[in-house]
Amino acid sequence: MSYEAELAYADLAAKLNRLGQSHVFTFWPHLTPTQQADFAKQLNSLDWDLIANLAETVVKHPQKFELKGKVEPAPYYPNIPADAAMRQKYAAAFKRGEDLLRQGKVAAFVVAGGQGTRLGWDGPKGTFPATAIQKKSLFLCFAEFLLALGKRYNHPGGGIPFYIMTSPQNDAATRDFWKKHNYFGMSPADLMFFPQDQMPALSPTGKVLLESKNSLALSPNGHGGSLLALHKSGALADMKKRGITQISYFQVDNPIVRCIDPLFIGLHDLDNAQMSSKMLPKTFPKEKLGNFAIIDHKLTVIEYSDLPDDLAEQRLPNGELRFRSGSIALHAIRRDFVESLNQMGERGRGGHGFALPFHRAEKKVPCIDLDTAALIDPQKPNAVKLETFVFDALPLTTQSIIYETNRLDEFAPIKGPTGIDSAETSPKVTTQRNADWLEQAGIPIPRNPDNTPNCTIEIAPSFALYPADIPAKKSKTKIPPIPPGGKLYLP
Ligand code: UD1
Repeated sequence: MSYEAELAYADLAAKLNRLGQSHVFTFWPHLTPTQQADFAKQLNSLDWDLIANLAETVVKHPQKFELKGKVEPAPYYPNIPADAAMRQKYAAAFKRGEDLLRQGKVAAFVVAGGQGTRLGWDGPKGTFPATAIQKKSLFLCFAEFLLALGKRYNHPGGGIPFYIMTSPQNDAATRDFWKKHNYFGMSPADLMFFPQDQMPALSPTGKVLLESKNSLALSPNGHGGSLLALHKSGALADMKKRGITQISYFQVDNPIVRCIDPLFIGLHDLDNAQMSSKMLPKTFPKEKLGNFAIIDHKLTVIEYSDLPDDLAEQRLPNGELRFRSGSIALHAIRRDFVESLNQMGERGRGGHGFALPFHRAEKKVPCIDLDTAALIDPQKPNAVKLETFVFDALPLTTQSIIYETNRLDEFAPIKGPTGIDSAETSPKVTTQRNADWLEQAGIPIPRNPDNTPNCTIEIAPSFALYPADIPAKKSKTKIPPIPPGGKLYLP
C-alpha cells in the first residue's frame, strides 16, 4: 500500500473499531493490494455513523410496530365523480394534467432497483417478458406508453423525460438492455439511468456481514432510497433545468401502469399537493397492499402485515371495508418536495442527508464465517436488511390527495412466477381489460361461460392509451374478428 493508502486505511480502521465493526478487517492481511483498494473503496462509500446508529436503534433494539393515536381511513377522490361539482373538477384536472404534459413539466420515474428475487428471473425485473402475445419486456411497455403519450401531447422537448432508478447490482445490465434495444425508440437524451445506494446487512447483534473476504453483504436501500438517489444522481437538477415540476413515480412490476396519468397529475397539481397517491379498493381485508390511513392527522401507509386484524375487518354499514384504500405504489410528487426532503435530512439527521426512516426486514443473507471463511447459506433468516419506503414521505406532506383508480384499467403486477399478481395472472388480467375496451367499442369478444374472455388480446399503447381511443381506431383500422381461443395483437 502507498503511504496515502496506509493513512486512509488507518483512519477507516480507527473509525470502524470505534463503532464496533472492526471484524470487517479479519481477512485484510491476506488480501492482494488490489483487493484491499477495492474493499477500502466499498467501505468508504458507506455512512458508518448512520449504520452504527441503525445497528443500535433498528437492529439490536427495534421498537415493536405499534399503531399509536387515532387511526382513521384516509379520504380519497372516487374513481367516478360523485356529483356535478366533482365532475367539473375532474374535467378541469384532466385539462390541467394535459397542459402540464404539453408544457413539458412532467417526468416519468420508475424504481427498478429491487432484486426481483421472488420472480426468479435472472436479470433486472424490467427485462422480464411480460405481455401475453408479443412477450414485450416491462421496460418496453413503459417506453411505448411514454412515446405514445409524448406524441399525443406534442411534448415540447420531443419525448417525455424518463428517469430510471437501478441498483448497483443491476445498473450495467439495465443500461445494456436498453442500449441493445436501441432505447426502444426513445431518445437517449430523454433517458437518465442512475443507481440507488446500498446498505449492509447486519447480524441480529448489529455486526455488518461479509459476503466474501473483501466485500460486505450489501443490498439496495429500499424504494425510499429513490428520493435520495434523485438528489444524489443529479436527476433533480436535470429536471429543474428542463423545467419539470412534477414527477410521476411508479414501480417496475406492472406492464399496464399508466406511467403518467393526466387526470391524477392534474388533481394533484390543482390541489397543490406535494405527494399524492393512487389507490384501489381492496378485494379482501388483508390483501397485500399498503393501507392508507390518517394517524393523528398525518396521512400514513400501514403495510398489510402491520394492519391489525380488527381494523382490517371493520366494515361500514353498506358492507364496504372501512379501511378499503390499498396503495398500488403510484405517486405524483412535486420536484421541490423531493428537494426539501433531502434538505430536511441534511439539517435534521446528523448529516445523513435524507428524511425517511429505516425499516428492518429479517432475511436470509449468504455470508462468510469469520473463523473459517466458509460460505454460510442460511436456511432461515440470519440477518437484518435496512430499507426506507417511499410512502414514508406521505406523513411529511402538508397537502396530499388520494385518487381511486380502476383495478382492471391499470393494475396487473407481476410479483412472482405464479399465484396472485404473477406472471401467470398479469397477461390474463390485461386480456380482460382489453376485451372490455374492445367490447365497449362494439367489437364482439368470445367469452367463456364464466364471462372471462376466451381469447388472448394485446393492445399496444400506440393503438390505444384509453378505452376512449378505440372507436376512432376502429374506423381507421380493420380489426379482424376474434375466434374462440384466438389471439389478437393490435399494434
Ligand atoms: C409494494 C408495496 C405495497 C404496495 C404494492 C403494490 C412495499 C413495502 N410494499 O409491495 O405497499 O401495495 O407494492 O404493488 O413497498 N425497489 C427498488 N429498490 C429497492 C426496493 C424496491 O427500486 O431497494 C422497487 C422494486 O424494483 C419495485 C418496487 O420498488 O419496482 C416494489 O418493491 P417490492 O419490494 O417488490 O414491493 P412489494 O412487496 O411488491
